[in-house]
Amino acid sequence: MAARTPIIAGNWKMHRDHLEAIQLVQKLAYHLEEDDYEGQEVVLCPPFVSLRSVQTILQSDRLPMQLGAQTCYDQDEGAFTGEISVPMLERLDVTYVLAGHSERRELFGETDEVVNAKTAAIQRHGLRPIVCVGESLEQREAGQAVEVVTEQLRGSLAGIDVSDPEALVVAYEPVWAIGTGRTATPDDAQEMCAAVRAELRSLYGEDTATGMRVQYGGSVKPGNIRALMAEADIDGALVGGASLSSEDFALIVGHRR
Ligand code: 13P
Repeated sequence: MAARTPIIAGNWKMHRDHLEAIQLVQKLAYHLEEDDYEGQEVVLCPPFVSLRSVQTILQSDRLPMQLGAQTCYDQDEGAFTGEISVPMLERLDVTYVLAGHSERRELFGETDEVVNAKTAAIQRHGLRPIVCVGESLEQREAGQAVEVVTEQLRGSLAGIDVSDPEALVVAYEPVWAIGTGRTATPDDAQEMCAAVRAELRSLYGEDTATGMRVQYGGSVKPGNIRALMAEADIDGALVGGASLSSEDFALIVGHRR
């Protein structure tokens, strides 16, 4: 089995307008070296309204980064005011789509069933879901972290077939570490990502689970990326705040230098 290709993604959340987005990508590209792209995937997830401008700049400057979206709707088209479909994202060269980010789950009421429907829609069109899971502080303190994350995985991945292990990514993002500056220790993150892989193994079998990428997310910074990436079951990072700084995100992407 070939080694898993690391995947570093920047989730810009609701930050930067489409003009600022162009600047951010240009500055990021300036800070990155050709070697930084080698042997790993780099993904940018700007807000919907910036996808087109980021797509254009990635293409025109031939930047080897992939485009990601932060969510989607599960229907292909119709009277769904305000929603964005996967075929629309496909037309913009979007490769990855986040499904079930904790902010979507918490603030917009996305249940495992909703995340499951979105994951299926993303897959149906050949795009790659990044399925997000993670426990709250309360759940962690009650010793329920593994149980909660396992349950989220089972619900979100119900009926989802994975034949190409690279085609579905899981992001483990403990809610208490998101935007708080409080990162899980590499040991804790590893323990949880190993638990995620164990569940993937029971869903998809040993070979597939061994090939699937599991990202860690939650206050990833230039100062902690190396220790996180050194862990056996951590195959990448889903970066929020630090992906809005071209310098910081370049240091995270370029952590092997
Ligand atoms: P921060 O890196 O800002 O903690 O956000 C993590 C996250 O939610 C990425 O999806």
